[in-house]
Amino acid sequence: MHGTSAGELGTMSSLSGSELPIALPEVSERFEQDCEWCVARVDGEWREFRFHDYDRLYRVEGLYERVFYDILRCASPPVVRRHLERELRGAGVSGERLRALDLGAGNGIMGRELASLGAQAVVGIDIIPEAAEAAERDRPGTYLDYYVVDMTDLDDEIRSALAGHRFNCLTCVAALGFGDIPPKAFSEAFNLVEPGGWIAFNIKEEFLEGNGHPSGFARLIGTAVADGTLDIRVQERYRHRDATNGDPIHYMAMVGLKRRDMEHPPA
Ligand SMILES: C[S@@+](CC[C@H](N)C(=O)[O-])C[C@H]1O[C@@H](n2cnc3c(N)ncnc32)[C@H](O)[C@@H]1O
Repeated sequence: MHGTSAGELGTMSSLSGSELPIALPEVSERFEQDCEWCVARVDGEWREFRFHDYDRLYRVEGLYERVFYDILRCASPPVVRRHLERELRGAGVSGERLRALDLGAGNGIMGRELASLGAQAVVGIDIIPEAAEAAERDRPGTYLDYYVVDMTDLDDEIRSALAGHRFNCLTCVAALGFGDIPPKAFSEAFNLVEPGGWIAFNIKEEFLEGNGHPSGFARLIGTAVADGTLDIRVQERYRHRDATNGDPIHYMAMVGLKRRDMEHPPA
């Protein structure tokens, strides 16, 4: 294992978790992104955290920021925000007009980016209650509403409450694929945005390759772009974050305009 102690690395987070000692696997070990892990010293004992155990990560204040932002240098929320901001400026649209749905909102990092654009309303959605609790703890006031729901299984009441927000923007950052948000959840959220609304997200570059990637995103997004459902304005490859062995993980940042509803993927 290799580790860090408080103060060894620069910190972005002002949360108390920025002091948490963390250790990562040996750099000689390579893990698939959905199998990565670290250990953190919490309440005097070292505990192992798989990166996809978001419920456990969010329960420890500051741990998510410490691991993904301070140590693994995740750049995605500001990168996606910057592209969205530039496109809005180019279109002469003020950020203050945004009524955004933030899908896979977690503890509110992308929500804060939207707030920095002056968004008029930001609504969060996440599948686990720990995310909503952490957003309230870490970034209170960021979200006008925060729904704990599975986007693939919306009931009529929640769907009509969401539709009532008349979203003109969807963001989804660091949340697509890998057992996280499946294509059906993305298409549901996409269809909650009004035609002409902004769609800003990121996705691992391999997920968009070819038409038959098992994630299903290559087909969903490829079809939407090809038939004009999603009018793509930005598609940029960038370093999303480091893997635990220090290798760069590349994602695509995508910003476009929704022209019409998308077909849901086959079940
Ligand atoms: C890596 S976190 C990203 C959080 C935040 N967007 C950020 O950039 O920090 C991915 C989030 O997606 C959520 N998620 C996974 N599957 C989901 C689903 N089907 N519907 C809604 N949220 C989901 C997870 O609970 C987790 O909070």
